[in-house]
Amino acid sequence: MLRLIRFTALLLMVPFVLLWAVAWFGRQPGEPVIEALMRHAGTLTGAAPAPPSAGVLALPEGVSLGGPFRLTDHTGRAVTEADFAGGFSLVYFGFTYCPDVCPTELGTMAAALDLLGEAASRITPILVTIDPARDTPAQLADYVSRFHPRLVGLTGSESEVAEIARRFRVFYARVHPPDSTEYLMDHSSFIYLVGPDFRARAIFRPNTDPEAMAAAIRARLPRG
Ligand code: NI
Repeated sequence: MLRLIRFTALLLMVPFVLLWAVAWFGRQPGEPVIEALMRHAGTLTGAAPAPPSAGVLALPEGVSLGGPFRLTDHTGRAVTEADFAGGFSLVYFGFTYCPDVCPTELGTMAAALDLLGEAASRITPILVTIDPARDTPAQLADYVSRFHPRLVGLTGSESEVAEIARRFRVFYARVHPPDSTEYLMDHSSFIYLVGPDFRARAIFRPNTDPEAMAAAIRARLPRG
């Protein structure tokens, strides 16, 4: 009986191991295996390969990130996805007490928008806090103005923030450094280009060049 279970388990692992092997040998120089895996998984399910672009992750076919939400903006106004249905948005999840990663990524977003020139007016940059306990609308208002004049800060209750994070598969957790009384947030750090339906059209990995980001955004904006 035990032998049968072992054999079945082994058999079930075969497709996964094969896919992993294909990803391992087929990955591009410097490409993490997990990204090659996603790319190949997308190919196997018949998804059209996305145009290759540095820093841009392809969304595998059938994977939808984003959608409806209820939050409060940095002016204290209640907002939903409908408030951003007039164009595209560039969305980042972070927190204002972040010592390094968040400021870098928000700076990249602002630089990419500058590079887009006139087309940038059709894109709303958004910071969604994953630390609503400290990031009140007033705290966000002070912070967003440092990065871009149109950057919108969004906060909410713990459950409202958890809901939008879940929709974008954003990971976050409190961490308590031993030498500090203040906590930090560990969080995933991707920038999402979302359409008028507030669903992701492209995902940018951390440290994407503003030039690559601007080019990928331009390629995905509808003409007009
Ligand atoms: Ni951060």
